[in-house]
Amino acid sequence: MQPDNAPWWASATAYQIYPRSFCDSNGDGIGDIPGIVSKLDYLSDLGVGFVWLSPVFASPMADNGYDISDYRDIAPEFGTLSDMDDLIAQARARDIGIVMDLVVNHTSDEHDWFKQASASRDNPYRDYYVWRDPAPDGGPPDDLQSNFGGPAWTFHDASGQYYLHLFDPKQPDLNWENPRMRQDVYDMMNWWFDRGVAGFRMDVIDLIGKDIDRGITADGPKLHDYLQEMHEQTLAGRDVVTVGETWSATPDNALLYCGRDRKELSMVFQFEHVIDGWDPELGKWKPRPFDLPRLKRTLGKWQKVCAEDGWNSLFWGNHDLPRAVSKYGDDGAHRVASARCLATLLHLMKGTPYIYQGEEIGMTNVNFTHINQFRDVETLNFHRIQTEKGVDPDAFIAGANDNGRDNARTPMQWTAGAQAGFTTGTPWIEVNPNHITINAKDDRTDPDGVFARYRDLAALRRTSDLVKFGDYTAHDQAHPQVMAYARHLNDAQLSVVGNMSSQTVTYNVPDALALTGRDVFDGADAALGGTVELHPWQVITVKS
Ligand code: GLC
Ligand code: CA
Repeated sequence: MQPDNAPWWASATAYQIYPRSFCDSNGDGIGDIPGIVSKLDYLSDLGVGFVWLSPVFASPMADNGYDISDYRDIAPEFGTLSDMDDLIAQARARDIGIVMDLVVNHTSDEHDWFKQASASRDNPYRDYYVWRDPAPDGGPPDDLQSNFGGPAWTFHDASGQYYLHLFDPKQPDLNWENPRMRQDVYDMMNWWFDRGVAGFRMDVIDLIGKDIDRGITADGPKLHDYLQEMHEQTLAGRDVVTVGETWSATPDNALLYCGRDRKELSMVFQFEHVIDGWDPELGKWKPRPFDLPRLKRTLGKWQKVCAEDGWNSLFWGNHDLPRAVSKYGDDGAHRVASARCLATLLHLMKGTPYIYQGEEIGMTNVNFTHINQFRDVETLNFHRIQTEKGVDPDAFIAGANDNGRDNARTPMQWTAGAQAGFTTGTPWIEVNPNHITINAKDDRTDPDGVFARYRDLAALRRTSDLVKFGDYTAHDQAHPQVMAYARHLNDAQLSVVGNMSSQTVTYNVPDALALTGRDVFDGADAALGGTVELHPWQVITVKS
């Protein structure tokens, strides 16, 4: 991608809102759309180009909205369609696009399609979902497991067959082989585009091409046919942004989604750096020790994947992941410095950076002590399954505090006051008690705070071709504490060196990074070269 043919979103920093936890306007303890509207000036001050809004559609909330019962309506706890129109318009007035979450691998079991489908075997909607006869012993057709634990098949008594759900039983999988179903999805997408949305983030989109009878769930044989069809039917000719959630993406297949001639998606979220942090056998519930060289190798590898074609997304966190500063930084003594360092190192790479709500003020993981404090369906299921298997309950809670999804879902910390200013009522999940010291009100007015750094990074993303389009070259990949890289565009160079540790590090700057010029943030004279003493989490950014 070059400056002269770049789409609008190449200049944008994205911001993810998890509506339930962002801002509650009416005191019921649940964040809502009018709450988001009330914070648009905040987002505009931060400088974001588009918001990825986690689902706000009608839903029984078995998975906090990732179980949709009506794609063309808004959940009453979040507001109304007219609130949504208002959000789209008011955001647009501030040059912010609203990107909705397209959850079409599955619906809620309370969606009208599923109600029809389960009414009888010959209902025209039956085939919108995936049904199989029981095994000869009456059990599930195979032993496929759901991502939330337990069998991926649930028996539907009245019609005598099992239906597939790769997530909760209340999230039946759609059958993408059915062309009428696909057309209904495309019509729905167009309906939202006509209402003014700026694009879609596509939930677990790598699962829609599944071939269940051959045991293939992710990256199935028809996946790219469907994405190309979707493009043709909805995206073609529209100036929108799309990002696929693809846990299975590898360097070998990523460009199939986002290669520029493919006519599929703008970019994907790949998760290799996230999975690197998990135990190879026990997965996310047993994190493995942080390994900086591994992280750098993975991020560097992905910079190469999309160097000539495609486009990267850059993120530390989202609503399914722990808080960035707790996972990758130091959420104790060096919280602010490490949050600023992480932001800088990530946002100065090539790709579209995504800020997860609260990251811009350095919010941290929670420290729950009792399973009753957790809300997430995945955590609660695995707690039951693993403790039944004999895993020590305290060990499980430690793992959930490290990597569980509720870390990202505690309410946004706006102020030091009651309930962090998130609600005047009782929040649906506990507010992190550290809002007394970590909150937007205090951080935002601090020129050396976390917010100030994110704002500067978003401004660079808008204005600097070097940051947007420059080549990426990693240096010292094996260094255990320092992350160092250069960006080049024509004759311009940006050198970035960050100490990703809480110790002072003496670092020999590689010649290729040595540079005399200006600091990329404040324009002050700056130089890099020779041997430097890097304070904990210090990051140096010099451009020629
Ligand atoms: C995605 C979402 C996650 C959700 C799951 C099922 O991974 O990010 O929150 O639970 O899909 O929709
Ligand atoms: Ca509310």
